[in-house]
Amino acid sequence: MAKKFYITTPIYYPSASPHLGHAYCTTMCDVIARGKRMRGFETFFLTGTDEHGEKIQKNAEAAGVTPQAFVDDIVNNKFIPLWKAMKISNDDFIRTTDKRHVETVQKIFSQFVKNDDIYLGSYEGWYCIHEETYYTETQVGPEHICPECGRPVTKKGEEAYFFKCSKYVDDLMKFFDANPDFITPVSRKNEMINNFIKPGLNDLCVSRTTFDWGIPVLEKEGHVVYVWLDALTNYITALGYLQENDEKFKSIWQDPETEIVHVIGADITRFHTIYWPMFLKALDLREPSRVFVHGLLMMKDGKMSKSRGNAISAYPLINRYGVDAVRYYMVSEVPFGQNGVFTPEQFVTRINQDLANNLGNLLNRSVSMIEKYYNGVIPAYEGEVTALDAELKAAAEKSIVAYEALNDGLKVTEAYQEVMDLISKANKYIQDSEPWTLAKDPSKAKELASCMYHLANVIYISGMLMSPILVESAPKIFDQLGIPEELRSYEAIKKFGNLGGLTVKKGEQLFPRLKEADEIAYIAGLMAAPKEKAAA
Ligand code: MSP
Repeated sequence: MAKKFYITTPIYYPSASPHLGHAYCTTMCDVIARGKRMRGFETFFLTGTDEHGEKIQKNAEAAGVTPQAFVDDIVNNKFIPLWKAMKISNDDFIRTTDKRHVETVQKIFSQFVKNDDIYLGSYEGWYCIHEETYYTETQVGPEHICPECGRPVTKKGEEAYFFKCSKYVDDLMKFFDANPDFITPVSRKNEMINNFIKPGLNDLCVSRTTFDWGIPVLEKEGHVVYVWLDALTNYITALGYLQENDEKFKSIWQDPETEIVHVIGADITRFHTIYWPMFLKALDLREPSRVFVHGLLMMKDGKMSKSRGNAISAYPLINRYGVDAVRYYMVSEVPFGQNGVFTPEQFVTRINQDLANNLGNLLNRSVSMIEKYYNGVIPAYEGEVTALDAELKAAAEKSIVAYEALNDGLKVTEAYQEVMDLISKANKYIQDSEPWTLAKDPSKAKELASCMYHLANVIYISGMLMSPILVESAPKIFDQLGIPEELRSYEAIKKFGNLGGLTVKKGEQLFPRLKEADEIAYIAGLMAAPKEKAAA
């Protein structure tokens, strides 16, 4: 039976349009999901939006519309179209305002109250509206500044429900110990233990009375479910948990063999690695397999954010360079798990060096030679005729194995680097084999035919391995090689030697070389000036 794989992005706040940073996280998840699907895993990929809370309510008020109208507009006109444009292959899109979500959250809340996991108390602390989080005296310091966003915080008190973390902290530590790969990278785990668990974990506030844009608490009028209990549960409400049709929940979450991966940014690690496993324990449900903390796509002047005015939108880049170039840039330039800085120079370099020079050239040269020497018909595979053939074939086979292992370990950037390395090797193989010399010597006909065959086969393999990123170009690569439908599968690439007799057909250049200076200037023009500068 196929192995099951469930991957999620954070659900984003639809408080403003998504920027390239949000697109980064979603694209990485998409590449992983497509890769798993291609390899035959039964894959479910979820993304969505986190629509409640004080900040959204305030933004809606400022815009003079209801919160529901406000989020509907941003979700339908900004998020969903962007994911379409980025060719995101999510299987569902959960909104926390969906009826299915609201009803399940209310059921979960009631169950927690009934089981004494949630109790009514009162809360006082330093509150940051922007982060929607209370902080302790030590965290805000003498200046009373939010430790996360640096904005001033205010002292606030209210009646509130709390989730009893104390009840589950020992279980959580045991779970961490038994599952050393649960939090990746592992440094994040130590951070969680040292910063939050060791100093003594407070119970988590799970309701609010100071605003009403949230899921009503059925137990007490005036309370709405506070945003993290509402937000985190999306990963199971989307599957139908506690709903009439809970087939997906049963088949995906309830199967202990399903690999469940939450991909998140560092800012929300605490919620995913401490509270989420606790909620699940309280519901008597299994934990996810892994929480992967990715890095940030930053601008030269720091974190990309709407409020800093330095965010860049994906659209102009997609329109000008194509979605594959943008997807490839993200995967290759920001190693998954580390931070990366967006610069126009690197964007252009990636496209030119990797896609135009390396991949594009290999395809063009190979197809042209097969047309020139063999009238476009790929010669039959006769095994490895030269040592160079044997070396290239071995490299291709090794790449497939490495690609699978790296992808399964979520070393996504490295997995695709492996393919780029194979493509470089194939280019070098052309230099070393010198087909133009072989063509002049009739006694070398076998070597020439074998060289053409090996090139075609390695491009075929590389095209398949790159297809989770190059969603538009991979089929065009196959078209140029004349690959029939039945050979366009991951399983098929594993058999070397299938392509003899196919007719290649030169097509348009997949990634035309960009004029560096012009394009750098164009992209620099898209990068909005930081607010400080604009104000100055
Ligand atoms: N709504 C919460 C998440 C709830 S998940 C149950 C939230 N939303 S958010 O809109 O602020 O999105 C946060 C996520 O967006 C980050 O965790 C990260 O994955 C992604 N990114 C936001 N800015 C980013 C960059 N500049 N670079 C990369 N990813 C970025 O927090």
